[in-house]
Amino acid sequence: MTDTEIKKGLAGVIVDYTAISKVNPETNSLLYRGYPVQELAATQPFEAVAYLLWHGELPSESQLAGLRAEERKHRALAANVKAAIDLLPLDSHPMDEVRTAVSVIGASDTSGAGSVLDASGSPEENLERSIRLYAALPAIVAYGQRRRRGQELVEPRDDLDYSANFLWMTFGEEADPVVVDAFNRSMTLYAEHSFNASTFTARVITSTMSDLYSAVVGAIGALKGPLHGGANEAVLHIFTEIGSAGNVVPWLDQALAEKRKIMGFGHRVYKKGDSRVPTMKAALDTLVAHYDRPEVAELYDALESEFVSRKGIYPNLDYPSGPAYNLIGFDTLTFTPLFIASRVTGWTAHIMEQAASNALIRPLSEYNGPAERHIEGYVPDAAELAAAEREPESEA
Ligand code: COA
Repeated sequence: MTDTEIKKGLAGVIVDYTAISKVNPETNSLLYRGYPVQELAATQPFEAVAYLLWHGELPSESQLAGLRAEERKHRALAANVKAAIDLLPLDSHPMDEVRTAVSVIGASDTSGAGSVLDASGSPEENLERSIRLYAALPAIVAYGQRRRRGQELVEPRDDLDYSANFLWMTFGEEADPVVVDAFNRSMTLYAEHSFNASTFTARVITSTMSDLYSAVVGAIGALKGPLHGGANEAVLHIFTEIGSAGNVVPWLDQALAEKRKIMGFGHRVYKKGDSRVPTMKAALDTLVAHYDRPEVAELYDALESEFVSRKGIYPNLDYPSGPAYNLIGFDTLTFTPLFIASRVTGWTAHIMEQAASNALIRPLSEYNGPAERHIEGYVPDAAELAAAEREPESEA
């Protein structure tokens, strides 16, 4: 072993530039293309945020209309994607279901097939693929929840915008504008967060000049883990375990004694609070009032104040979004797929940015396994002996 400094988890390592978003943990701020995320969440439909992430500017009215028209064209669940989902067991994890569906969409897009060298696609092709995936994901997520509930597919409605149509396809009824607004805000808040684990996964895959769908499939795999996207689901499990605000103190005593991680708290980058939380908490409050469920806010506040005062670790976005999605009526297992539907915009923006200024992402490692040893009786041939004589090279 040498005394090389190992940056475990790449913590603190800056690996590239990005013009897509800026996280500033000092000021608790998150900017998408320069705009504070809370301003976008308060004023923009999710379609405009997607456009901003992909193009760098908010759309004009006609540009927004153009994206909306394109999105509507690809909203319906394709027959082969539905057939692939229907082949999966009802208890397969929804993240695996969505990952499989995206894989099917990718394998069905033969525009880049034929040559591995064409797989990465032109910027125009990749933008089209990004819009198609973003448009198709609500149907996949909505159908997944309905299938698990034994309900039929609901066809999309052309008269509804992205968020309203997403809720329509999930629940088969038109959502109240208050609910659409809260949901739209959550989509915006989840859309992008610089080089988080799933986005970095997408960039690593893109850096090999693989295709956009493969990068998104890989990103979904990374997002599934409870230290990343799976946390919003885990928050609901914790709420169910605790039951009510009055149980917070004994529950937390025991959880901390058992050294459990309290899901929905803590962040690799934000150490003084997650910039997205106040906006999502406000959306949760409107839902609590709309559904008249004050006990949800009581439990939320009790756990937050107790945990923050004991550990000084603040909630992340998953903390308010878990109960918000629960109030809207999403099953707990659907929460992380909702994150995919939103984050696909950020992932694809990063995929296009990586492709536009590519360098193969390939870090080094410090070996700490057994010292060199040999198979008994093995006799190296002349070529191997000659290679061993040559100057050593760094890792391939
Ligand atoms: N519950 C209990 N303790 C926590 C904690 C949590 N949610 N988050 C951090 N800590 C503790 C760690 O155990 C560690 O304690 P130690 O120094 O005694 O070992 C200390 O705080 C520092 O945390 P660390 O694990 O170094 O932070 P990190 O930057 O590596 O991890 C997370 C960040 C997100 C992985 C971590 O906070 C976590 O697991 N949170 C819960 C999962 C979650 O909500 N994920 C969604 C992220 S958006």
